[in-house]
Amino acid sequence: MKPLIVANWKMNPQSLSEAISLFNSIREGIKKHSNILKNVGIIVCPPFVYLSQLAKIKSKIKLGAQDLFWEEKGTFTGEISPQMLKDLKCEYVIVGHSERRKLGETDEMIHKKLKAAIQAKLKPILCIGETEEERKIGRTFMILKNQLKEDFKNISNIKHRTSNIIIAYEPVWAIGSGNPCQPYDAKKVLLFLRKFIKKNKILYGGSVNSQNALDYIKKANFDGLLVGGASLKVKEFLAILKNCSQT
Ligand code: PGA
Repeated sequence: MKPLIVANWKMNPQSLSEAISLFNSIREGIKKHSNILKNVGIIVCPPFVYLSQLAKIKSKIKLGAQDLFWEEKGTFTGEISPQMLKDLKCEYVIVGHSERRKLGETDEMIHKKLKAAIQAKLKPILCIGETEEERKIGRTFMILKNQLKEDFKNISNIKHRTSNIIIAYEPVWAIGSGNPCQPYDAKKVLLFLRKFIKKNKILYGGSVNSQNALDYIKKANFDGLLVGGASLKVKEFLAILKNCSQT
């Protein structure tokens, strides 16, 4: 199975022209390495406001959003509906990223978002992960199981839901810290998650770079990666894609 590499641009870059230029540089870089497109699936998740322009660029790169709202329309100032994303040729949507959870997004809200995404036939990338404190006191597995349970309402629901749901294991302490969860440790978590998630893809995210990317796929058996900071540096992101195309 092709590894899936998801670029989460977060609130970057600062202008539309920079976003187009970043996207085009990735697109051009991929063209030079035919192996990448053959062997890797690529998704870019830019800020909402750049989606419509990036959707106009002909490319094999798929688009994803970084969030969505659960209602179809109405009095919800500032929110974006699933259908609006579909209309912008968005195929994927990140749900429950820890940076949103930190701002107050609850598992209840994440559950509604997951449901809305699935109903709209968007492919959700659900982020789960433990904090440093939770890890230190040995609660990692319990936290992850709880998040899955709450986000899906019932953990056995995952089995009955579409395989289009993607899970991203993103230890909170590893995100943007330059301190990734080592592949050996991440693998233990993956094996735990595999007890509940049989068919769905499971990605790793948190300080992924071109040096460690392939290890998560080859050594730890993840189905792909969620890449933040490194996805904004063209050379580094292309190196990640190139390395992962060797699988
Ligand atoms: P990072 O972010 O690669 O910069 O650690 C990953 C993420 O937040 O998805």
